[in-house]
Amino acid sequence: MRSLRPLGQWLTSPRVRAVARIAAFAILAIAGILLAVLFIHRGLLPVVAWLIPALRLPFLDFAVYGPYPTQQFVSFDLHAPKPWRTLWDKSCDGGQIFIGPNGPSVTDSGPVITDTNGELIWMTHEYNTVMNFDMQSYRGKDYLTFWTGNKTGSNGRGEMLMLDSNYKVAYRIQAVGGENRGDIHEFRLTDDNTALIAVYNHTQADLRSWPGFRPSDGWLVDGLFQEIDVETNELLFEWRAINHFDPINNYYFDPFGGYFESHPYDYYHLNSIAKDSKGNYLISSRHFHHIAYIEGKTGNVLWTLGGHSKDFKDLSHGKATEHQWQHNARWVDEEKGILSFMDNGAAGPLHVDAPCSKGTMVQLDTENMTATLLHSYVSPNKVRAASQGNLQVINDDQVLVGWGATAAYTEFTMDGTPLCEVHYSAGLLFWFERWKSYRVHRHFGWVGKPDWPPSARVKGGRVYVSWNGATEVKFWELQGVKKEGGKWESVETTEKQGFEDSFALPSKAEFVHYRIAALDSEKNVLHHSEPAQPEGGLGWAAGVAIGVAVVAVLSICAWYGVRHWARRRREGRNLFTWEYKELFGQDYQYSRL
Ligand SMILES: *[C@@H]1O[C@H](CO)[C@@H](O)[C@H](O)[C@H]1NC(C)=O
Ligand SMILES: *[C@@H]1O[C@H](CO)[C@@H](O)[C@H](O)[C@H]1NC(C)=O
Ligand SMILES: *[C@@H]1O[C@H](CO)[C@@H](O)[C@H](O)[C@H]1NC(C)=O
Repeated sequence: MRSLRPLGQWLTSPRVRAVARIAAFAILAIAGILLAVLFIHRGLLPVVAWLIPALRLPFLDFAVYGPYPTQQFVSFDLHAPKPWRTLWDKSCDGGQIFIGPNGPSVTDSGPVITDTNGELIWMTHEYNTVMNFDMQSYRGKDYLTFWTGNKTGSNGRGEMLMLDSNYKVAYRIQAVGGENRGDIHEFRLTDDNTALIAVYNHTQADLRSWPGFRPSDGWLVDGLFQEIDVETNELLFEWRAINHFDPINNYYFDPFGGYFESHPYDYYHLNSIAKDSKGNYLISSRHFHHIAYIEGKTGNVLWTLGGHSKDFKDLSHGKATEHQWQHNARWVDEEKGILSFMDNGAAGPLHVDAPCSKGTMVQLDTENMTATLLHSYVSPNKVRAASQGNLQVINDDQVLVGWGATAAYTEFTMDGTPLCEVHYSAGLLFWFERWKSYRVHRHFGWVGKPDWPPSARVKGGRVYVSWNGATEVKFWELQGVKKEGGKWESVETTEKQGFEDSFALPSKAEFVHYRIAALDSEKNVLHHSEPAQPEGGLGWAAGVAIGVAVVAVLSICAWYGVRHWARRRREGRNLFTWEYKELFGQDYQYSRL
């Protein structure tokens, strides 16, 4: 006991008490600042934005509501993207949006389907980062298609999956030959019931003619594509860029590329492949700035558009062939020679060649070898995507441009008037690429029939329900059971509104358990949830305990602080000199400053 006396003396010493008073004021000040920020953020700014609607978008873009907002649910654990509209037209309503969010700020990367209001339909983190998520049809049935595997920088080694309407893997397509693996950049199903995939193959080449004293046994990333039989995974056709183009003609500056196997020179960067009705292939190379047309039978290059190519006479003063770092070349109309792509105009900080990216539609006359620019699609916010992106023709009137590494998509009229724009992150932060989706698609009619049950959870006197991936639910029915093992009775039915809906639990505790039945449009039961787990009392009690503790600490600080503040005022000391004497054992002297 005696040994505790020095501690007691120390604790009651003027210096320690002075520190305690300073700490009390510091806690009060921090709590005050936090409260003020909370008030401004949750109270003031939303009211200002409500009063002055023109401020809403700047607020979003300046990350007032957070840099990458997500939607969170009670009955579902993943964080869903929370898109917002910067421009909207009713022609963009309807259908489903297919994205594959990934990047440093995405906690639950993976394939995501939402409706055009941003309401979640399905997402999973089971495959980690996926690329090229899309809905495609194979032998008359719709599948969810994507790449999954190990992504390293701008390419990857993995395989292609096709999920059926139960979200089960129906087909798995793998690159053929040696160490070859499917790359992230392309996975197209063709009308011939085959799959087109990109393969990034590391290969050796003599690079002595390249600048920078590169070796005779240097390393390149070659651009390959393979056409594969979906049922048997048999290789039907393979094409390699290095057999047709001299790698030195690339536009990509990589000072360290090619010296070592660990850092090969990515000279071609094949990023899209499509097959047409003639059996030929249309491909896009980002680092050659060209779109190439490959003869199906021979693999010969029939023509190239853009880059170093002089194959076409540009009838639009250079505008039909000037694309740089482009993605996603597709035929829009083979007969008329119309094709579309996404012209990035940039590829990372070393290659910023255009003020903004644009969707592009070009008409080719392959008889007279002329190219004409038909339409350009530029975001009203002048979005620039340093990588990735796509252009999808939705119908005869409308196109969608996904801005790839930039967290946004825009829909346009066919002739290029912006109709709608959706952002997934604050515009101010676009350049940092912390949220990206390789491509964005809008499709109609995905039908998902998960074989897992709806999820129901009780919280705060309500039962919450959702059913990840189910597209056929029109109503939810709350059911209760009065005694253990008893019969389930209908309590209440409500129309499904969003991804997650909820019911208030009846105030009379007549039921011991609740569950939710998912009903279709005819009110047939599709599936029942497991009985909803009643709310754990602990969470609620812990919340109250923390609240009481915070209030108690702040009250003690306030009481202690105010008392001393009053005393110091009586002593005629000001803010700077309050605790000076107690801390340093002498009076404060202004001259010391
Ligand atoms: C990804 O890499 C890990 C570790 O090297 C490997 O075990 C796995 O098979 C790879 N996945 C694919 C799809 O190639
Ligand atoms: C490159 O392609 C060849 C031929 O298809 C194959 O044997 C080799 O394993 C591939 N290498 C890598 C690293 O993928
Ligand atoms: C090619 O040019 C000729 C002469 O100008 C023209 O008659 C012909 O229609 C053109 N071909 C196509 C496919 O437009």
